[in-house]
Amino acid sequence: MALRLGDTAPDFTAETTQGTLAFHEWLGSAWGVLFSHPKEFTPVCTTELGRVAKLEPEWDARNVKVIGLSVDSLADHEGWSADIEETQGVALNFPLIADHDRRVADLYDMIHPNADDTFTVRSVFVVGPDKSIKLTLTYPASTGRNFDELLRVIDSLQLTADHQVATPVDWKDGDDCIIVPTLSDDDAKAKFPKGFKTVKPYLRVTPQPNR
Ligand code: BEZ
Repeated sequence: MALRLGDTAPDFTAETTQGTLAFHEWLGSAWGVLFSHPKEFTPVCTTELGRVAKLEPEWDARNVKVIGLSVDSLADHEGWSADIEETQGVALNFPLIADHDRRVADLYDMIHPNADDTFTVRSVFVVGPDKSIKLTLTYPASTGRNFDELLRVIDSLQLTADHQVATPVDWKDGDDCIIVPTLSDDDAKAKFPKGFKTVKPYLRVTPQPNR
């Protein structure tokens, strides 16, 4: 059965480019991004992995650990890492799971047989510190992901986990937020000292609370 938001991210032990690791233990109290790509030595995947490596300071600033996966062997991962460094100008700085027996891919339903019955699609799972799934994304092999969008969503997830706000369309860190409709005006006045604007009774806008 497909994994849904709020489900516990299945735990696993896997061989990676940084040694064997147990997923939940490795995550510790951090947020996690588990993402699959179809295959080693392919062009789009090469650009994606370089981008994820370049974003290391952004993951660190958000207390996020990233981990990649494909159904290739550890030897292929290691050979390809050198190509990523050469072509993308950055060395891999996060683990890649060598899921040659598809154990993790099957646990997370990352192989979509009507798209391709051999390789993983471009899946993304964001996992919260409570190990529950906060976000899923699925892209086809032909389309590289936008990791800026992933960072944007993580900013929203982390903000809305701590404050009674939601984030509107195209929101970016620093933009105004929406007060959740379940909060009364009186409670909103107490919780949001910067104030809020009532556009409609259900649409109340306040400056980002953690700034
Ligand atoms: C790529 O990463 O370029 C790719 C991988 C599998 C199918 C199509 C493209």
